[in-house]
Amino acid sequence: MAGKLAGRVAVITGGARGQGEATARVFAAEGAKVVVADVLEDEGRALTRDIGAAAMFVPLDVSNAASWEALAKMATAKWGAPGILVNNAGVVHAVSILELSQDDFERVLRINLIGAWLGIKTLAPGMLAAGKGAIVNIASSSGLWGMNGLTAYSASKWGLRSLTKTAAMELGFRGIRVNAVFPGGINTKMGNITNEAVTELNKHYQRQPIQRIGEPEEVALTSLFLVSDDASYLCGAEIAVDGGQTIGVYTDFLPGAPG
Ligand SMILES: NC(=O)c1ccc[n+]([C@@H]2O[C@H](COP(=O)([O-])OP(=O)(O)OC[C@H]3O[C@@H](n4cnc5c(N)ncnc54)[C@H](O)[C@@H]3O)[C@@H](O)[C@H]2O)c1
Repeated sequence: MAGKLAGRVAVITGGARGQGEATARVFAAEGAKVVVADVLEDEGRALTRDIGAAAMFVPLDVSNAASWEALAKMATAKWGAPGILVNNAGVVHAVSILELSQDDFERVLRINLIGAWLGIKTLAPGMLAAGKGAIVNIASSSGLWGMNGLTAYSASKWGLRSLTKTAAMELGFRGIRVNAVFPGGINTKMGNITNEAVTELNKHYQRQPIQRIGEPEEVALTSLFLVSDDASYLCGAEIAVDGGQTIGVYTDFLPGAPG
């Protein structure tokens, strides 16, 4: 099949729903073989059935090294060593800093941050052997500035920034490009917990330049760009897909702010 990712094998963590699902669909449409990896087996298998022969589901808990080893074996046996990894799996935990428990802090870091590192540690050797690879870490706008109520989540996403840059430095000169995407509010189960209608949701986004919530496909297309050869000179880059949420805070008493 022709396409920007023809002949490539891509692993997408948290691929069963939301932005991961959108990424799996976009990558498959561009010719990739897609490994949908998630703790959500039913959703993941339903998605891969829908995509067809270009997709396989592999159960994965990103925070577990043995789970990663099993994924690498299964994917490699079917299609060869994966050359693309999107570290997309994540969990959010909203609670004030003084209410946060150590268990919850560690759980969020294990999944969002250590999980991404385990993915790189497990799959980068195969990419090094092939002499080519592309990794995208899905961070968050809360990894670009502070956000009340998101101590653990925000720390995990700031951690992903440094993981991205360190990995890009160590692996870039050996053929693997590592970059990061920082989504703002995106219309998924995580970004729309109460399942509000988009018109209602958009009311929360009137203080950013693009005054609406983002759609999962808008993030997926950015990841597509980063893993494709179109981004051949991007290494350690940070792309905010956040409608301008983090570029500044409007000052009402100066000209140019939305009414
Ligand atoms: N939705 C937003 O507003 C938003 C904003 C910024 C960043 N993000 C980030 O985007 C990524 C995708 O989130 P989403 O919006 O699609 O949310 P989502 O909750 O719909 O999807 C997250 C996926 O990760 C999976 N997952 C959770 N723990 C896992 C584990 N231990 N192992 C494997 N898979 C696991 C879930 O099962 C789920 O399929 C996350 O990293 C999230 O932090 C989301």
